[in-house]
This record gives sequence, C-alpha cells and structure tokens, in this order.
Amino acid sequence: MTDADARIEAARRALEEATAALAAAEAEAEASAATEPEPASEPATEPATAASASGPLDEQQLEAVRAGYAFEAAALEIGAIVNGEAVPGVPVRIPLAMTNRHGLVAGATGTGKTKTLQVLAEQLSAAGVPVFAADIKGDLSGIATPGEPNDKLLARTRGIGQDWVPAAAPTEVFSLGGRGLGVPIRATVSSFGPLMLSKVLGLNKTQESSLGLVFHFADEHGLALVDLSDLRTVLQYLTSAEGKTELEGIGGLSKQTAGVILRELVNFSEQGADIFFGETEIDTREFLRVTDDGRGVVSLLELPGVASNPALFSTFLMWLLADLFNELPEVGDLDKPKLVFFFDEAHLLFSGASKAFIEQITQTVRLIRSKGVGIFFVTQTPKDVPDDVLAQLGSRIQHQLRAHTPDDATALRQTVRTYPRSGYDLEAVLTQLATGEAIVTVMNEKGAPSPVAWTRLRAPQASMSPTPDEGLRQLVASSSLYPRYSPVLDPQSAHEVLTAKMNAAAERERAEAAAAEAEKQAAKDAKERERAEKAARSRTQTRTTTRARPDTGGGNVVSDILGSRTGQTIVREVVRGVFGTLFKKRR
Ligand SMILES: Nc1ncnc2c1ncn2[C@@H]1O[C@H](COP(=O)(O)OP(=O)(O)O)[C@@H](O)[C@H]1O
Ligand SMILES: [Mg+2]
Repeated sequence: MTDADARIEAARRALEEATAALAAAEAEAEASAATEPEPASEPATEPATAASASGPLDEQQLEAVRAGYAFEAAALEIGAIVNGEAVPGVPVRIPLAMTNRHGLVAGATGTGKTKTLQVLAEQLSAAGVPVFAADIKGDLSGIATPGEPNDKLLARTRGIGQDWVPAAAPTEVFSLGGRGLGVPIRATVSSFGPLMLSKVLGLNKTQESSLGLVFHFADEHGLALVDLSDLRTVLQYLTSAEGKTELEGIGGLSKQTAGVILRELVNFSEQGADIFFGETEIDTREFLRVTDDGRGVVSLLELPGVASNPALFSTFLMWLLADLFNELPEVGDLDKPKLVFFFDEAHLLFSGASKAFIEQITQTVRLIRSKGVGIFFVTQTPKDVPDDVLAQLGSRIQHQLRAHTPDDATALRQTVRTYPRSGYDLEAVLTQLATGEAIVTVMNEKGAPSPVAWTRLRAPQASMSPTPDEGLRQLVASSSLYPRYSPVLDPQSAHEVLTAKMNAAAERERAEAAAAEAEKQAAKDAKERERAEKAARSRTQTRTTTRARPDTGGGNVVSDILGSRTGQTIVREVVRGVFGTLFKKRR
C-alpha cells in the first residue's frame, strides 16, 4: 500500500498549499464546463495545473462530479471515483448516446488500456451495440470467454460497487485475408478504388489521376480488377508493345507514369498487401449484427504479426471506414450508436502514415459520427494520434503516463493542457495512477465535457486472458459467415483476360515468324526448282511462282478480347463515392 500512502501524502501536501486556489479554480471550472460547448476540441487556454491542487476532492467537488455523471439516459459504467479510496457512490459513466462522439484510451504499457477497451466493448455489446475491435496483440480475445472470479478481483469490484458476474460477449473472429484464424476479410481492388489506392501507394497528384485513368480503362473494357495481380497486369499490358495503341487511346497517361505506378504496386505487394485483395469481398454490414437476444456482436479482427506490417493494417482500415461511410445512411442523433470501433495499438496506424492517409482518417472520423458510428483509439500517449484527429475525440480515459525522459515530461504537459480545469494537479496525478485507474472526462448529454474524475475502472466480466486458439477455432467452425467468405474466388478477371491476350499476341508473333520463315524456305525451294527445271528444260519458257502472304488475321486482337466481356462477374455498375470506393449494388 506504499503506493496509496504516497498518493495520499502528495495530495495532503498539495491541499495544504492550495486550498484557496482550489476553491477559485473550482468555481472557474464549473463556469467553463457550463459554457464551453466542445472544449475537447479546444484545449483550455490555461493549463489545468493553474489550480495546483491534486485532490482528494472536497465534499462540494465530489458532489459536482457525482452530478456531472448522473446521466438520465442509458450509460456505460466506466468505474467509480477514487478520492483517497474508491467511492462506489460516485460512479463515472459515459452516455451510450455519446459513444459516437469518439474517444481516446491512453496510457503507458501495462496500465490497463486493453482492459478498459474490453470493459467498454462488453457493455456496448450487452446494450445491443455491435463492436468492431482490432486485436493486434491477441489480448482481447478473452472477451469470448466468461471470466473467472478470484478474491483479488472480487475485492476490487466490490470496492467500486460493481456487481461482478462472469459473462462472455457474442464474438465473431475475423482475419485479414485468411492469415491466421478467423473469417477472412478481403476487398476487391475495384471497390478499393483509385483514390484510396493512390493514398496507400503514396502517389503524387499526377500519378493519382493517371491511376484513375487506368481504372477507367479497365471499367470501360470490362476488365475486372479483383486482386493486385489484375491491376499489375493491366499496367504491364499498357506499358507493353501490344498495349501501345490502347495507351495512346487514353489521353493523359504516359508510359513512364504507368511504369512508376507499376513499381509502387509491386512494392506494396511485397509488403504483404496481396492477401487483403480479392474475392470473396466482405460485406461490411456483417459488422453491424445483433444476436437474436439483442446483444451486439463483437467482431474481433485478430492481427498477429501486423506490427511488422502496418501498411496492410492501415490499408484495410481506410477501406473499412470508407466503405461503411458510403454504405450507411445519415442518422442524426440516436440513443445508441450502430457500431463502435476500437483500434488498440493505434500508434501503428499513424506512425509513418502519409499526409493523405491522415487527412482521410481525419475526415472520416469527423463525418462518420453522423452515421451512428463511434471510434475509440487506444494508444500509449495522445501524441500518437494526430492533433486533428485528437480534436474529434469527445471522451478521454487517460491511464498512467510515465515521466522518465524530458520527452515524456513534455508529452505529459501537453496531455494535461487538453483537459478542462479541475481540482487535480493532473501533472502529478497522471504519473501516480495505479493499474486499472484513469483520469476520465467524457462528453455529457449536452455535448460538454464532464468533470475530470480520477477513476478506478470496472473489471471485464469476460476473461482477462486470451481465449485459447482451440476456443477460437471452435468459434470459427460454428460461424455462419465462414462458409460464405472463406472460398478464394479467382474469377476471369483482368489478369486472365490480358494474359491470354498477351499470350495470343506472342503466339501470333511466333506464327508470323514461322510463316515468314516458311515463305523464305518456299521461295528458296521454288528458286531451286526453277533452276532445276531451267536446266532440264532449257528450251521451254520459264515459270514464275507467286505465293500469297499467309493470313495473319489483321484484325485488332485487343478489341476482340477486350470487347468480349465474357465472364466479367465482378465488374459492377459503379458510381464512385466520395472516397473513390464503389457504391455497390448489393444483393
Ligand atoms: N480494469 C481492470 N480490472 C482489473 N485488472 C486490471 C484492469 N485493468 C488492468 N488490469 C490488470 O493490469 C494488466 C494489464 O492491463 P492491460 O489492459 O493489458 O494493459 P495495457 O493494454 O495498457 O498494456 C491486466 O492483465 C490486469 O491484470
Ligand atoms: Mg494493451
């Protein structure tokens, strides 16, 4: 309990120093909380440390916190306030209706972020809200298995007024492109679209519009772009001798640019992106399912090893958000969201990401809430999330931050500045939080930030340890989605069509060469025959031999094959949406 002693001692010192400042700050904090509509996006101009008091809160402040979290409508229970000891009578909550205003869960490694994610996901599911979570390290899969009680756990939950019973959430396990366990998630190149593809390939504006022309060419000629090899083959074709006329027909696409795009595409494949592209494409509405008994399905994307492959992860994510954005109707304010996303280890998303990618994510995060979708980023420090994205996150659950290095200290001060004013010395408190505790502020029902609250979090009711592979395998085996999405279809697409065409052209060249050779030989033969005849019948008249050139077809094989449009099962009637993905006509 040295931890608690230290905290109480620190708190006492701070209290002695700043009782007066505290009262003033409290009045100010109340005033600013009441008038500022969205301070989460406008950091307080003065640092919270101006109050220079670190709690415990006095009766009045405690009452303000109690009132600040006493929402009338349904809410997710985050935990109870810690004021020296946990105070079960002062619960800290987040209105269910505000979970589409997005959130951040941050904190150093091992401070309880993933468990917080699990606590929120379990309750969303129980409230009938489907959840999609990217499980990078595999430590969220316990959500599929009921938890096991022990004395320590029950002491904790009793202390915060949590009536703990073991419970699992209905879980569907997914994998990227069938790598690992789970229902494979794939998308076609065609539905991914040229705009987003340019972004993940890091193309410049000229190259981006060129890629648009390539997609257009493929659309026009009924060449289905299913996987990356389809697009590669189209580019190879356009830059080959056979494709010369076609390339010239596409105004504005140079052979050099097509070559550059081709190279980038090859790089992209080498980063492992191939597995994500193909048929059968996932219908993103699968992530919106609710069980017959009204619980939201937790879609868990298991991503072992993706840390070494962030390009793949961000590519997928960008597509997923854009596709959902295009699919879902505007809904305005709902009493609960249609879907909530959790991105654990979100630094992987943004580290090294292109400006275009960040812009895209920012735009999506801003717009998608009106479609009833909430997004929670889970990461070590708020610094991992671009400022423009951070400004969109209405709720914050900040676990312990370390302050070992000068960089840490700077990050800490920056974090503190983004909080509304409070009765805490956040710079001190944030480094003292115990595991499973956090500094919380959420967006209340009026869209204003709730009072800052030092919170001990609830414990997950499902298992805190990963579900063993065997258990996951059973889930997948009984999944109704698996049979639909596991077959890898390799339809007659651009690659097959153009390869056949290029082979045909090569074949024709060979035939022509053979014919020419035959003609030469025949001419030689004829000459010899002539000479012989001449010699034999020198008195008779000479004879000439004419020979027709063999028929090499002469028609345009390109248009023959391209025009046939046979087996083009994938090409759909398309209108490209804001993100360049397809609006699909779905069955
Ligand atoms: N809300 C909680 N209730 C009970 N134990 C918790 C809670 N949060 C964290 N813990 C404990 O701390 C450990 C680390 O938590 P975790 O969420 O994995 O940390 P992080 O994701 O920040 O690295 C957990 O395995 C668990 O033992
Ligand atoms: Mg974690």
